[in-house]
Amino acid sequence: MHYERDNIQRMSGYTPGEQPDAGTVIKLNTNENPWPPSPAVMAALANVPAEALRRYPSPSAAQFLAQAAQHHHLDPSQLVATNGGDELLRLAITTFVPPGQPIGIAEPSYSLYPVLAALHDSPLKAIELDDNWQLPADFAERMNAAGVKLTLVVNPHAPSGQLMRAEKISALAQALDGVLLVDEAYVDFVDPGHDVVSLIHKHDNLLILRTLSKGYSLAGLRLGYGIGCAELITPIAQKTRDSYSVDALADALGAAALADQDTAQQSWQAVRDERTRLTHALRERGFDVISSQSNFCLAYTASQSKQSAAQLYAGLKAQNILVRHFATPRLHNAIRISVGTPAQTDQLLTELDRLLG
Ligand SMILES: Cc1ncc(COP(=O)(O)O)c(C=O)c1O
Repeated sequence: MHYERDNIQRMSGYTPGEQPDAGTVIKLNTNENPWPPSPAVMAALANVPAEALRRYPSPSAAQFLAQAAQHHHLDPSQLVATNGGDELLRLAITTFVPPGQPIGIAEPSYSLYPVLAALHDSPLKAIELDDNWQLPADFAERMNAAGVKLTLVVNPHAPSGQLMRAEKISALAQALDGVLLVDEAYVDFVDPGHDVVSLIHKHDNLLILRTLSKGYSLAGLRLGYGIGCAELITPIAQKTRDSYSVDALADALGAAALADQDTAQQSWQAVRDERTRLTHALRERGFDVISSQSNFCLAYTASQSKQSAAQLYAGLKAQNILVRHFATPRLHNAIRISVGTPAQTDQLLTELDRLLG
């Protein structure tokens, strides 16, 4: 006897990256920022009054929203705060996809997308990226032909780290009949000069996902937000979102984090510098590494490598270094390594040298 809906019984849940307790583990598996959150965030935490915990939080996360609106030069009606970016993904599906209608994704991409589609009992329209990790030219046409109401595109792409330029995003939003959600979870690590937010004034079907988990070193806080024109945001902010999905701590600390751009931007530059070093070091060791605009590198093992990617993953794990390995056709020869501190990179490279002999 089972009580859950048939689609829930049929599906598998999302498999999160490992989150070990031990402080000795070098965690390069879930793309957290290796640098600590802003001191202003820790000061805001210390100053949270008991009263803020006794009462329900602001339903809109007003403090954070005001700061985010100022940061992006937008009106608060063009933003919605969510419990991590993941909640925005779920809300976008609830808001824009009629039950049973398809959800569009590029493949491979964030492995949560198919799980959310299965939860909604929606078929997936998955279109394979080309050999250079780009969307095929007829991507929008095929999504429209399939009747897709919501297309999820991660940019920079995960797990390759490839960046789609803003002009391409604009053309894609223009070409799609449904909503385009651009998942910018990793956008803070892109080299300066890339901007998609201003496109919301041009495309009423463009919804941008942002998170404080990566760029602001706050994965534990669970705070993300959506950006779009007010008509796109209002049904999410006022109907489908839970009233209190962003708690009082996230509201206050998120505002403090966004206000301290200096600390955040220093960490982004440190990650970019270390990404360059890691990429070169891996290439010197025979890996084929895609140039990444994110805070991780996808490294394919050399064809003559003594160790498969799965063996490298296991060998590193035995030495308390966690990276990510995906046993899928396109990724099984690769390991995905989050960019760490210089000391963490050194330890990773030492261990890789030992494993590769
Ligand atoms: C591509 C992508 N999108 C969205 C998220 C959601 O992040 P969060 O829910 O922590 O904001 C992640 C987290 O790893 C991600 O990799």
